[in-house]
Amino acid sequence: MTSGHPRRIAIIGAGLIGSALAGHLILADNRVIIGARRPEAFTPPDYQQEDIDYQVRTIEEAIDQAEVAILAIPNAAVASFADRYRDRLAGAVIIDPSNPFLWHDGGVMTIKDLGGKTSGTVTAELFPKSSVARAFSHQLAETLWLRGRREPGKNAIGYAADDNRAAAITADIITQTGFVPIPVGTLAQSAPIDPGGALFPGLLGIFTPQGMRTTLENGPFTL
Ligand SMILES: NC(=O)c1ccc[n+]([C@@H]2O[C@H](COP(=O)([O-])OP(=O)(O)OC[C@H]3O[C@@H](n4cnc5c(N)ncnc54)[C@H](OP(=O)(O)O)[C@@H]3O)[C@@H](O)[C@H]2O)c1
Repeated sequence: MTSGHPRRIAIIGAGLIGSALAGHLILADNRVIIGARRPEAFTPPDYQQEDIDYQVRTIEEAIDQAEVAILAIPNAAVASFADRYRDRLAGAVIIDPSNPFLWHDGGVMTIKDLGGKTSGTVTAELFPKSSVARAFSHQLAETLWLRGRREPGKNAIGYAADDNRAAAITADIITQTGFVPIPVGTLAQSAPIDPGGALFPGLLGIFTPQGMRTTLENGPFTL
């Protein structure tokens, strides 16, 4: 599904969420370069075996001239990525799907304490010369790919941004993945799409546009 004009998009990270986003955005005719530490190791997941010409390069090549950069890397890696590349991404829109999870021994996962801030706010503070948006954080990669391909326009993804340009571009990119973009508010208001938020996956992990709007207005369904 194509909307808006083709964009030069860098996807940082060649894992599950990076692959799903790259596939959708290539099929929507954007110029997408996946930036990876080991570009030669890239393989799309089994459920994503369509004939797609993925361009996988170094991170430096991916972000060069990028209008949009998507941080498909562990949240714990975002600060060091920012230290290294924030100046080169000045003026770009940065979309952050990364979730502040902490992994412990035995495979136990907890949510990092951000001191009352949203994850998007923390990321925006790391990129003061860019426009940061938060999106795709609450959609599982496999569902993002399969539902976006099989039922475009049926399900919703929430997003947040602090300026109109980042919001418009992010909404357009969500549309290109086959989902309906639903604004959640500013980055400071983006707790619903952070871990533990009302739109974060429970058993279903997927919302219709109306279901998402209703949940945002009324909170999650409880008995
Ligand atoms: N998977 C999902 O369903 C899903 C859904 C929503 C949001 N997210 C979020 O999306 C992010 C990525 O998740 P994922 O499931 O795609 O993870 P993944 O499959 O493990 O892929 C992570 C990618 O990040 C790269 N990476 C790790 N540390 C890096 C660093 N310091 N600098 C540059 N690249 C680095 C890895 O490269 P190497 O191979 O070189 O280590 C790998 O390509 C996470 O923050 C996650 O919370 C995931």
